[in-house]
Amino acid sequence: MEHDVGGGIYRSRLGPVSSEATRYVSSIREDLWIFSEDIECTVAHDFMLMEQGYITEEQLKRILEALKRLRDEDLSQLDLEKYEDVHELIESYVVKQAGLEVGGLVHTARSRNDQVVTAVRLKTRREVLSIMGELLKLEETLLKKARETVDIVFPFYTHLQQAQAAPLSHYFLGYFDMFLRDFNRLSESFKRVNQNPLGSVAIVGSSLKIDRSLTTRLLGFDGIVENSFDAVSSRDFALEVVSNLNILMLNLSRIMEDLIIWLTSEYGFFTLPDELAFPSSAMPNKKNPCILELTRARTGRVFSSLAQLSMVCKAVPSGYVRDLQETKPPLIEAIETTREAVRIVRIVLENLEENRERIRSLTEPSIIALDIAERIVEEARVPFRLAHRLVGEIVKLSVKTGRRMTGLTEDDLKEISLHVLGRDISSLLASILREADTSVLVSKRVSLGAGSPEADAKMLAAREKTLQECYSMLGLMAQKDREARMLLEYSVSRLVKGFFSSAAEKGL
Ligand code: ARG
Repeated sequence: MEHDVGGGIYRSRLGPVSSEATRYVSSIREDLWIFSEDIECTVAHDFMLMEQGYITEEQLKRILEALKRLRDEDLSQLDLEKYEDVHELIESYVVKQAGLEVGGLVHTARSRNDQVVTAVRLKTRREVLSIMGELLKLEETLLKKARETVDIVFPFYTHLQQAQAAPLSHYFLGYFDMFLRDFNRLSESFKRVNQNPLGSVAIVGSSLKIDRSLTTRLLGFDGIVENSFDAVSSRDFALEVVSNLNILMLNLSRIMEDLIIWLTSEYGFFTLPDELAFPSSAMPNKKNPCILELTRARTGRVFSSLAQLSMVCKAVPSGYVRDLQETKPPLIEAIETTREAVRIVRIVLENLEENRERIRSLTEPSIIALDIAERIVEEARVPFRLAHRLVGEIVKLSVKTGRRMTGLTEDDLKEISLHVLGRDISSLLASILREADTSVLVSKRVSLGAGSPEADAKMLAAREKTLQECYSMLGLMAQKDREARMLLEYSVSRLVKGFFSSAAEKGL
């Protein structure tokens, strides 16, 4: 067996490890996701240790200098494979730079068990904020589309059969509300993500006098996961976020499915610009909506991330177990897939063109059937079931004779009326049908939230306000995150200048 020589700083009791075994257990690749956050947590923890008298200012200064050097290091130059994880990498680096007397202080009153979950929560909080930001941009686009399409009468479908006509804006506004719930779900789970487990140490806390509220403040957490055993054992915050991302992706996938159908030449309701379409290597005629299809398919990735995460958490014994390491890859996958999907769907929607003429020509004349039945109820107080029968007969005759419903004669209507009602209301039916212009009927809808230009205009105005409120809320959440980082940087600034700034330039 080959032996590892580089890592292994934790092996006080154990002899050298085989490099193959290290490679097998190592999470270093996925840990790069929390590299920056883990350093940040280390800074906060060690600053707290200084405040509590476990580290001197001079020692902290040397630790911080080593951490800062690591932050600025080109990671591809480090032999990452020899570390079990990023925590071992970071501590080893500090020990190497500052010596064991000083570097050996870094991990006082801390375990990788509380360390990893703290960094993951911190990173997840930032990722959730970034997805929420992307979602609001998507929402803005949906409102813009709604504003532009209030005057397009569009066929709405049930069972993929034309059902009723309504302004196209109603569709975009509907998705605005669905994604608003996704936004709210994420903001709800944010509260439970943003809780500090640091200071729980391995499982039952510490006999050293650490100050958990100080690290909570320095890292911008909203509160503390108080019970140390709960803090190191639990990953429900990740399950909750990924569940919410899964629901969000289902919504995205559904809108993709609609558009894929509506982009076919059979429908042709919309056109996708060439910049967002893909060709066939063989058929020169093709214009494929690959972005939309992949978004639909990648919904499966997020769902399988949720399944993976659930399977890891299903029956592991309480406390930390190495299985929990496997919660990171699905969490990362779900976050990255969703963010990219939200972004690209926004770009697709922004560039989608409506083909007004095509929409008009494919809207079936009988799409007004329920509206007509409601007119009959309203104007003749005929029970709805009988009105349904009347219009059913009208549609049947119109399909049979190939004439429009509005083109039936008064004699036809008289016969239908006598047949269904046993009395003649043909002149009323004729007058209703005479005014049965689709747009006019759409405008007659008065129920709250109905698909009419008036109701949509009202919803549009209200949603514009809602969007602004969401932006302000998200702005405050993001500001809190930035302020925490500034507070941490300020707290250590008399020891090391610009701890985060050089890394910020690197985009970390
Ligand atoms: N790499 C581990 C993870 O991602 C860190 C915690 C390891 N803790 C331990 N006791 N081995 O979960």
